[in-house]
Amino acid sequence: MRITQTTLQKMLENNEKFTVLTCYDATFATILENAGIDVLLVGDSLGNVLHGENTTLSVSLNDMIYHTRCVARGVSKAFIITDMPFGSYQVSPEQAFENASKILAAGAQMVKIEGGQIMADTIQFLTQRGIPVCAHIGLMPQSIHQLGGYKLQGNSEKSAKQLLSDAKLLEKSGASLLVMEVVPAKLAKKITQALAIPTVGIGAGADCSGQVLVLHDMLGLSQGKKPRFVKDFMADAKSIQEAIANYVTAVKTGQFPGKEHEF
Ligand code: KIV
Repeated sequence: MRITQTTLQKMLENNEKFTVLTCYDATFATILENAGIDVLLVGDSLGNVLHGENTTLSVSLNDMIYHTRCVARGVSKAFIITDMPFGSYQVSPEQAFENASKILAAGAQMVKIEGGQIMADTIQFLTQRGIPVCAHIGLMPQSIHQLGGYKLQGNSEKSAKQLLSDAKLLEKSGASLLVMEVVPAKLAKKITQALAIPTVGIGAGADCSGQVLVLHDMLGLSQGKKPRFVKDFMADAKSIQEAIANYVTAVKTGQFPGKEHEF
């Protein structure tokens, strides 16, 4: 049976962790689904891992539509979320609707949008018109030049308060999932407890409702310094299938992320 946002909500209510990995093509989509991954995120991290760019800023709407189609062809059960790329939703709620509708037509069941309170009106506009939205706060790669680098967010009292109030507002505006990236584990736990919708952590500790990693990072394929929150699941596996299955088990049993992966 197809996983839906209702399934994820039920998993939260049943205290069952759900698993998310980024995915950009049909072959991996089938491998991830068969290994038990609940949600495939067609992330704009494809700008980094497929295009070799230093940021996600050059990823286009057409790139996201193309890769969503590829992923959608590879699955029958997994829930698909696609990132709205930089510049495709920030101008107005109407611009966001026009572009999000193309992403849903390509096979995604939900779009992901980076931003705190500034995105509340857009999220309300989309969700009132039938487009499910996953909000994304904390380290937002599309704002990398404004944030001044890939670094921990919400680590001062003021910024932690802001993230908590952003999370509550985005939920009130209609978001049905919330990604938190590179924030202190204690703060992610507090935000998760304050919301009724599921949260998805990446570098946000073990207390989020689900976990996400970039596929190439967890398969040990990414070049350069490995971020603290990444675990290379290929290191102890004989195949990609085994590495993904180990990730599923580790997330579902609460073994990943460990203390060594959190901030
Ligand atoms: O694009 C992406 O891979 C993401 C995850 C890091 C959450 O947004």
